[in-house]
Amino acid sequence: MTRSNPSLPPVTVVTPADFALPNNGLLARGQRNLVDSWLAENGFVVFRGFDIGSDRDFDDFVATFNLPNFPYGDSFSNAVRTNRTERVFTANEAPSEIEIFLHHEMAQTLTFPTRLFFYCERAADEGGATPICRSDRALASLKREQPAFIERLAALGVCYRSAMPFEADKASGQGRSWRDTLGVATEQAAEQRLNALGYRYRWLDNQLLSVQTPPLPAMTQAPDGVAVFFNQIVAAGAGWRKRTGDEQPRLSYGDGSPIEEHHLAAAIDICYRHTIDIEWQDNDVALLDNYKVMHGRRPFKGRRSVLASLCAPVTRTPFVVDTKTSGMASGMASGMENGMESGPA
Ligand SMILES: [Fe+2]
Repeated sequence: MTRSNPSLPPVTVVTPADFALPNNGLLARGQRNLVDSWLAENGFVVFRGFDIGSDRDFDDFVATFNLPNFPYGDSFSNAVRTNRTERVFTANEAPSEIEIFLHHEMAQTLTFPTRLFFYCERAADEGGATPICRSDRALASLKREQPAFIERLAALGVCYRSAMPFEADKASGQGRSWRDTLGVATEQAAEQRLNALGYRYRWLDNQLLSVQTPPLPAMTQAPDGVAVFFNQIVAAGAGWRKRTGDEQPRLSYGDGSPIEEHHLAAAIDICYRHTIDIEWQDNDVALLDNYKVMHGRRPFKGRRSVLASLCAPVTRTPFVVDTKTSGMASGMASGMENGMESGPA
């Protein structure tokens, strides 16, 4: 395993010599505790050299952990993916030259998985590593180096803006269609769903749907009490592209005010400072604690194929903006200021 950042603890790589998979059934309690201890220490673990040669084998491997499945179809993920089995789907299908920047999976939505499995069906010829960021360490550095930014995020939360096409756009890392994302067939049904979830929205040309999340927390505590930079600020700030007719920034504080460029640049820099790469080998599986670590995708050459399985989802409520800090009467970002024509009061 390559360590690109010697200041971080070594990556735990588990082989069949030290971890026996059950023939048929579930991991023993002691094995689950062992895996949990690896996750508690590093936030992720890599299983290498196991007899996992297909999407079916990967599905079976995930099943041994006996975690609730989080189907892609139920998620608000903005990535285009294709299901292989009930539990297994392709990772983000964005073109190989596109970098997917660090993020906690679905931290821009109200429901997110807490455990992520990735399976390397085929390693890239060049590049294609999965960068892993220790979110707790990144947040500690941000508090030291950018205290005003962190205080503002803590008080106001963060809103994300994205535009969903009518048809899936495979050229984009955020190209999932609004019909698929929302699980609806009509514009009216889309609006009902968004209203129920507290999103603001606006229809653009060609049935492009611009949406803005309600304010969401930008930080949280992992179940063990560790504070983490749990958001998609780096991914959205560095990578989410605007579309014609939808020119506003992809990010704002929860009161609708803009996040300063220098703060975004600092967050990106600091998070990548606390990052090491998983250099994939064929048939590797990585298990991530989505609270503890962010992940991304380096650009690559070749026919890389990495599959994913998301587990153990939790749902949270929108963030309540500190109105004393924001100076606003309402906790919801202003529709006028954000160019949103519709949405809940
Ligand atoms: Fe992801």
